[in-house]
Amino acid sequence: MEANGNIAATEKGGYAHFMLKEIHEQPQALQQTIAPYLETDSGPLANFLTAAQAQSLRKLYIVACGTSHHAGLVGKHAIESLARLSVEVDLASEFRYRNPLLDEHTAVLVISQSGETADTLASLQEAQRRGCPVWAITNVQNSSIAQQADAVLPTLAGTEVAIASTKAYTAQLAVLLLLAVHLAELRQTRPAADLAAIRQGLRELPQAVQAALEYGSFLQGLANQIAEQELIFFMGWGVDYAGALEAALKLKETSYIHAGALAAGELRHGPIALITEKAFMVCLQTQPHLRHRMQGNMQEVLAKGGKILLVDTDASPGAEDPGLLRVSLPQVHPLLAPIVSIVPLQLLAYYVAVARGCNVDKPRNLNKSVTIE
Ligand code: AGP
Repeated sequence: MEANGNIAATEKGGYAHFMLKEIHEQPQALQQTIAPYLETDSGPLANFLTAAQAQSLRKLYIVACGTSHHAGLVGKHAIESLARLSVEVDLASEFRYRNPLLDEHTAVLVISQSGETADTLASLQEAQRRGCPVWAITNVQNSSIAQQADAVLPTLAGTEVAIASTKAYTAQLAVLLLLAVHLAELRQTRPAADLAAIRQGLRELPQAVQAALEYGSFLQGLANQIAEQELIFFMGWGVDYAGALEAALKLKETSYIHAGALAAGELRHGPIALITEKAFMVCLQTQPHLRHRMQGNMQEVLAKGGKILLVDTDASPGAEDPGLLRVSLPQVHPLLAPIVSIVPLQLLAYYVAVARGCNVDKPRNLNKSVTIE
């Protein structure tokens, strides 16, 4: 049992696997994570920073591993867009050895579901050794990282048993967006009405995620068709590239398929050589200002005989093509879209792994927390 687990959390609750249970727990996990943060006078951000401290910041390093690193890549977009604060996202295994540029205007944010990942903990200690404040987003509140960080922003997703992280990831994204809104407020970089709209979107987020979960049977059918696919690529523009990286990792670690992820603008710079009728491309499209570019990518892939699953939050009629399948998600604020768009891709990875007879909750060679170097 997990260190802070409880009986209820360790039962599968009627689901075939913990991973599927935890994917379906996301509306509840998001609701219980977000709610305390919206109590702005008493929540985790209440006394997090003064306005002067926030305004003196010139750089934030976000440091993590694996899925948590992908959360950091999504968080970068939100924090830079809202708070106009430069964010550099680094793999913890790289950050700790590369003598990063830290000064009095820098802060470090580590993200770790378990709070025990060795490289992330070592990065926290290295930053603190150099006099830099370290904040932590973690799902285990009595973990080493939670105990050693200068400030903790908890995710309250509940115990995550499956090795493939799902509900902790989307909870991390929600906390990162809440942090971005708070920093924007302190740095006075966005109108109050914009920030209130995002907070309202966060309140409504569980319903949007619940709607995404309704695609389960469709994705199960698709998974059975692509389970033996030779080539599966995920691609997106802007923040959707981070989603593509996370979706590819989910598929890789649960079904042992060598899935790829690419920034869609890079398609013509090499990967297009791989596109034939044997290619299956998953296109994430949640950012309205980049839709036209993804449409161009999709036409190229279809013209070469590739098959496409489009995951978008844009209800407008898209290209009809026999090679194109579509998951149309509820329209939400573009900064909230990465939380909704990953859900069908978590489900796709799960069902492909089941179709391939893999050990979904405990994939080979993997541990829930990489506590050794
Ligand atoms: C998640 O699906 C992976 N199993 C793995 O990449 C994980 O995200 C990584 O090891 C970091 O773990 P942490 O969030 O507990 O630090």
